[in-house]
Amino acid sequence: MSERLADIANAMVVRGKGILAADESTPTMKKRLDSINVESTEDNRRDYREMLFRTPAMADHISGVILYDETLRQKAADGTPLVDIIKSQGAIPGIKVDKGAKDLAGAPGEKVTEGLDGLAGRLEEYHGLGARFAKWRAVINIGSSMPSRYCLNGNAHALARYAALCQEANIVPIVEPEVIMDGGHDITRCFEVTEAALNALYAELYEHRVELEGTILKPNMVVSGTENPARAGIDEVAEQTVKCLKRTVPAAVPGIVFLSGGQSDVDATAHLNAMNAGYDMPWALSFSYGRALQAAPLKAWGGQASNAPAGSAAFAHRAQMNGLATLGKWSPELEQDAA
Ligand code: 13P
Repeated sequence: MSERLADIANAMVVRGKGILAADESTPTMKKRLDSINVESTEDNRRDYREMLFRTPAMADHISGVILYDETLRQKAADGTPLVDIIKSQGAIPGIKVDKGAKDLAGAPGEKVTEGLDGLAGRLEEYHGLGARFAKWRAVINIGSSMPSRYCLNGNAHALARYAALCQEANIVPIVEPEVIMDGGHDITRCFEVTEAALNALYAELYEHRVELEGTILKPNMVVSGTENPARAGIDEVAEQTVKCLKRTVPAAVPGIVFLSGGQSDVDATAHLNAMNAGYDMPWALSFSYGRALQAAPLKAWGGQASNAPAGSAAFAHRAQMNGLATLGKWSPELEQDAA
């Protein structure tokens, strides 16, 4: 495969495919495994992820996989490095490199993402281990007086420093400013905050001399807050999200891959499909889902080796549905057919 940043970025958003976010930190993976009453041991985390990566449908619908440090170094039960299994499926291994969102000093309720110290050295090592793209997630909460300009700018600055370091290491940065869905706000407020976050991000990427052709954006969709009873429907989410992205994301960016952020599996698919079916856009629009790809297989697997085929089938289904949504070819009937 080409080592040019723009070629890697384009391969990550090739038509019909998207990214599997399997980069849960060990504490987050423990929560996921707790939810199915499975102990979070290194072997169980490995077995679950190996089941996903060996799913044959990966080859058709998954362009890249974001890993956590542990998984990038892990071997399958038969001794094959998990990275090699991912590559043999035609997918690109990626790595989460941030150190998590921490309290932002002097700004109660707001967060800033850490992880810049020593990052250049870690990126060099990760490249040696096979990673060709990375992820850094900023967290932006909505409240009556949040986010502050201080929070937006601090997070955008960190994202841009990370992106510049990635490109020096020949790694494509996924820049992820996540506006969190929690709250009673309406879709207009989500639009306003997402627009401000993306404007701050692209201003900083410019200042940090980041080559946009070798980046991928991972944003939230523009949606109603989870506690708002008047929920915007599929078409409105698609319309507002595309409008917001067109205002803020330069056409030089090759692709935009959404996070699912707590949407239901089918909502995440339906929203992506509505955007691709209804709008002309300068960038490829795809997915980089964690929960919306993994909730079903995690439940079907349930920690039992004998359930691995059921877990694989559940993952294959969601990967296929989302692959179709990148082409605007998904429909709700396809969900029922599989049920
Ligand atoms: P969700 O799709 O579960 O939001 O996770 C995507 C992700 O990588 C968040 O950083």
